[in-house]
Amino acid sequence: MDTVWARDPTEGFILGRISELLVEGAEVIPINPKFQRRVLPFSDIFKAQEDDKDKDYDDNCEMVFLNEGSLLNNIRIRYYQNKIYTYVANILIAVNPYKDIPQLYSAPTIKNYQGKSLGQMPPHVFAVADKAFRDMKVLKQSQSIIVSGESGAGKTESTKHLLKYLCVNWGAQAGPIEQKILDANPVLEAFGNAKTTRNNNSSRFGKFMEVHFDKSLHVAGGHISHYLLEKSRICSPQGDERSYHIFYMMMAGAPESLRKQLGLTKPDDYNYLKTGCTRYFTSSANEKKLSAGQKSADHAKSGPLRDILLDDVEDFTTLDGALSRLGLSDADRLQIYTTVAAVLHLGNIEFEDNPEDTRGGCRVSPSKAKALDIASSLLGIDATELRQALESRVMQSSRGGIKGTVIMVPLKVYEANNARDALAKAIYSNLFDYIVNRINQSIPFQASSSYYIGVLDIAGFEFFTVNSFEQFCINYCNEKLQQFFNEVILKFEQELYRREGLSVPEVSFVDNQDCIDLIETKNHGILNILDEESKLPKPAYNHFTSEIHKHWANEYRIALPRSSKLKSHRSLRDDEGFLIRHFAGAVCYQTKQFLDKNNDALHASLEGIVQDSKNKLIQTLFATSNAQKGKLTFISVGNKFKTQLLELMEKLRKNGTNFIRCIKPNNKMIDGQFDGALSLMQLKCLGMTSVLELMEHGYPSRAPFADLYNMYKDYLPPELKKLEPKIFCEAMLHSLKLRDKDFKFGVSRVFFRPGKFAEFDKIMKSDPENLKAIVADVKKFLVKSRWLKAQFCALTVIKLKNKIIYRKRALIVVQKTVRGYLTRKKYGPRIKVLSKIKNLNGNLKKMEAIAGQLKKEKESTTNDINKLKNEIVATMDKIKKDGKIQPSAIDALYAQIVAKVDNQMDSLQKKLLAQKNAEEQARLRKIQEEMEREKKRKEEEERRLKEEEENRRKKAEMEAKRKLEEEQRRKQEEADRREAERLQAEQAKEALDERRYQERLEQERQDHELALRLAQESNGQIEESPPMIRKSEAVKNQQAALAKGKYDLSKWKYSELRDTINTSCDIELLEACRHEFHRRLKVYHAWKAKNRKRTIMDENERAPRSVMESAARTPKLQQKAPILDNNSQRYFRIPFVRPGGDNSKRGWWYAHFDGQYVARQIELHPEKPPILLVAGKDDMQMCELSLEETGLTRKRGAEILENEFNKEWEKHGGGKYVRPADRKQ
Ligand SMILES: Nc1ncnc2c1ncn2[C@@H]1O[C@H](COP(=O)(O)OP(=O)(O)OP(=O)(O)O)[C@@H](O)[C@H]1O
Ligand SMILES: [Mg+2]
Repeated sequence: MDTVWARDPTEGFILGRISELLVEGAEVIPINPKFQRRVLPFSDIFKAQEDDKDKDYDDNCEMVFLNEGSLLNNIRIRYYQNKIYTYVANILIAVNPYKDIPQLYSAPTIKNYQGKSLGQMPPHVFAVADKAFRDMKVLKQSQSIIVSGESGAGKTESTKHLLKYLCVNWGAQAGPIEQKILDANPVLEAFGNAKTTRNNNSSRFGKFMEVHFDKSLHVAGGHISHYLLEKSRICSPQGDERSYHIFYMMMAGAPESLRKQLGLTKPDDYNYLKTGCTRYFTSSANEKKLSAGQKSADHAKSGPLRDILLDDVEDFTTLDGALSRLGLSDADRLQIYTTVAAVLHLGNIEFEDNPEDTRGGCRVSPSKAKALDIASSLLGIDATELRQALESRVMQSSRGGIKGTVIMVPLKVYEANNARDALAKAIYSNLFDYIVNRINQSIPFQASSSYYIGVLDIAGFEFFTVNSFEQFCINYCNEKLQQFFNEVILKFEQELYRREGLSVPEVSFVDNQDCIDLIETKNHGILNILDEESKLPKPAYNHFTSEIHKHWANEYRIALPRSSKLKSHRSLRDDEGFLIRHFAGAVCYQTKQFLDKNNDALHASLEGIVQDSKNKLIQTLFATSNAQKGKLTFISVGNKFKTQLLELMEKLRKNGTNFIRCIKPNNKMIDGQFDGALSLMQLKCLGMTSVLELMEHGYPSRAPFADLYNMYKDYLPPELKKLEPKIFCEAMLHSLKLRDKDFKFGVSRVFFRPGKFAEFDKIMKSDPENLKAIVADVKKFLVKSRWLKAQFCALTVIKLKNKIIYRKRALIVVQKTVRGYLTRKKYGPRIKVLSKIKNLNGNLKKMEAIAGQLKKEKESTTNDINKLKNEIVATMDKIKKDGKIQPSAIDALYAQIVAKVDNQMDSLQKKLLAQKNAEEQARLRKIQEEMEREKKRKEEEERRLKEEEENRRKKAEMEAKRKLEEEQRRKQEEADRREAERLQAEQAKEALDERRYQERLEQERQDHELALRLAQESNGQIEESPPMIRKSEAVKNQQAALAKGKYDLSKWKYSELRDTINTSCDIELLEACRHEFHRRLKVYHAWKAKNRKRTIMDENERAPRSVMESAARTPKLQQKAPILDNNSQRYFRIPFVRPGGDNSKRGWWYAHFDGQYVARQIELHPEKPPILLVAGKDDMQMCELSLEETGLTRKRGAEILENEFNKEWEKHGGGKYVRPADRKQ
């Protein structure tokens, strides 16, 4: 049976064959014996291509079967061949290879992609960059490239390749700008990237990098916007993770003098580093350069970390070079390094309870006084002032005493720790902002920029065992980006198809607006509730959390932590967290630090001392800062991010969009390993499966007629300029020799099928050379088509001339015929009578002969005859001469003369009678014999008539029966109509419920997979029960019916059903089996129709299309007792024409229904030998519908007699039919 892709929890999909059709779906036997056979619902089974299993495709839309299974397979096959890129229409999928692929990004490769359309070269980020550039040029619109994927999927690497491509190709003339744009990356990565468990070089901030172009389309400058630097990492990296690379780079790579000057030793000497991983990334060569004093204990013990891209020793030199090329002087750079070191020393300041303070205040631990000294000197702040600002805070009283009196409030140990960390975070994050600013200043663009290409590299959807405010913000951002993707690719696209009348089937997708509302709505959005909480006199995270649950109590997207699938989440209290069901899966957030993280303001005394610092850089960092000016006016981190995101989305909406979807093939960060389930989950989260579904019928490239025309207008000679835009476009496409099915004309634009980018780009390339060449082609095409038209005209004229000649000839024939007719009408009667009278002469001759035989009265008789002769001559004369004689008179004359002749003859014959008696006797005998034969013939004729009458009667009976059934059905239908309406409404509601349910089921599955991944990563436990699978209504009804019936066939195998049908004598069981057997066939065929090959439509039709279609149209009412008798044998005949086939070549389809199901079937094809099929053997190819469903009994003239069917059956060699009940094994 069919080769299919079957869902598998670890591989994603595995290849197998359907072996059984069961109640809940089908049983699949994997082709690879290492996998177990399994029973899956049809929604988890997809058709696979049988031949060429290892063939791969550049564009997934080119595959024969567009489904999740083949998508994953194609990506997997290519991955193992080092082909990491593929397209789905014009979206690029990039799989992280975790290794260098030779020549993939080399200079010659860059050159190869320049000016090439998507699809002309193998898929590549360069192709996307080139497309963006050409779109910008042609459409005169800035472009965005959105690079997405989860941590470690390769977003940042892709971004770098994109920028490199743009700068190398169009930045050469820009001089140092090009290098500066490229230099931005190592700098940003040093300060903004860190090693995490998921990625050694994980970007802990988001960025949108714009490359600006001037009028002549050369790089003119750039701009970087950055989002949400992760601050918690600065003070406490955890487990195997590290803090930002810069700390380690300075300790491993900075010259000794600098390290000494800044008091830098080894990572485990610093509180802010020692909680995490303290090893460096180094190559073995550079490892040797490290002294023992630079290495942490762990590094000394376990050796360095390895990564193909990272090396802390070398990266410092790279960073320093990049910073200086970006225009930072030696002094500037020293200030930056000093600030970084200051953060570390600040972290080493520790506090203890102050025994001298009665209010529970704290003091700097005496042993850490040195750290305080170094930190304050590096920060340019007086040590005593720093100590004071850390140990206490200044407050202005608003009540009691004199208003505005400044009071010093001593801090408790944990409060002082918090203040210190807040200061460190503020310094580091402001430093990061400052560096980005400096980069932006060194690549200015404002004056000369016309358009830009922006590349968005922002963290993908994130989920950990413990999720906090950072994850909340990043996932909020990803919800927005997902919505944007859905809008651009799915929603707008489908709307456009509808508007342009392209009749592309609808693809449904989950709208995540509800989730976005949940977060950002003005009044009760989570961000707003959080801000409101901060403004309360005593903000508390539990209160904040309860408020959220209170406002969103009935919202599906949000839930209590205890509904999480992960055990560790379920132990959280209701007011300690919330769970959001994101599009990519459920994430449980712990709210404990939400309030702190949402507020990045320093308290006033700290703010004051940094602003007064003697260090110029520190001063600059805090020049315009978000000091806590009052609870009611502060701008929260969340709110700032929301605004930034709004601006970003606005930019994205204005620009042309290109998507790159990055996939991480395994969690181990190694090459050559493709984890199917992991990759499939990402493909789904990134919306690729929905796009594939859309592209099955979609048209990814398009251009309005008017735009195309305008683009070419200036190059058109006058004779082409007159053409209407649409006509011009048609002429152009025909001149390119495109096939009709590769493109489609909408109302206002022309659309191209996936994989036709090259042709599309050819017409869209607006350089004069290309335009001229195409215009020349169009001209050639028009001349050609005009020449063809002229030829056609000449031929038509010749044909017309021939027709005139032919008609002239025909006219003569007509004239001749008419004249002849008139003449015959005028003279005909007289001539006819005259010739008849003339014929009487023959009688006269006979009379003369008789007279000659007579013995007596010979002479008188001869006289009489002569007299008669004269009379005849006289009568003829009279008729001849009288032109006006009436036909009646002629007839009278004729009758007269005939009577006379007859009389004469009579008397003569009487005379002869006696003589001829003997001869007469013999003649009579002969006549009798003749009559005998005639009688027999008549009897035969009568028998035949009777048989015909019998057939007619049977047919009439059949017709009466049909009418009766029709009447009965009409009555039932009338009764059912109201029922149907009610049911339809119910079904519509059910369908909606079902869709919603399916969405939730999908969400459940996603949640489950996510939890599973987390559990694997953290050795956690997840809820044991797998996501419940609700049986579809149909299956439920079916099972209910089965349960009610006498037999429960739900456990029966498909082959068992068939065997029982073929062998059992128990009529009831047999009927039940036949019913179940055909039900499963129906489900299977429906699945197959959905999974059909794209190229060949409607192969394997099992009954004429008219029958299948009418069955599909009949509303599915609840099964009533069938009108048709289950025991009846009925026969039908229906003509069929293959779709798209020649109408004159009809075939015939014969079917014999034994009760409700088909028993025998004949297909008479016009050009093929007849096909005879028998139930029990050929069921797969036979009509699976019940007689009731086919509607055949309602088709006038379709039913035929048994003998008619059998005649056809036997004619083609069919054997004798035995009813199932009568069969013996
Ligand atoms: N095209 C590529 N060729 C070779 N190696 C790659 C490629 N893309 C990614 N890698 C490897 O994968 C690692 C992670 O990639 P990258 O830093 O781009 O991920 P990311 O998606 O930006 O993750 P994050 O969200 O954590 O920042 C890189 O450090 C590199 O080792
Ligand atoms: Mg990154």
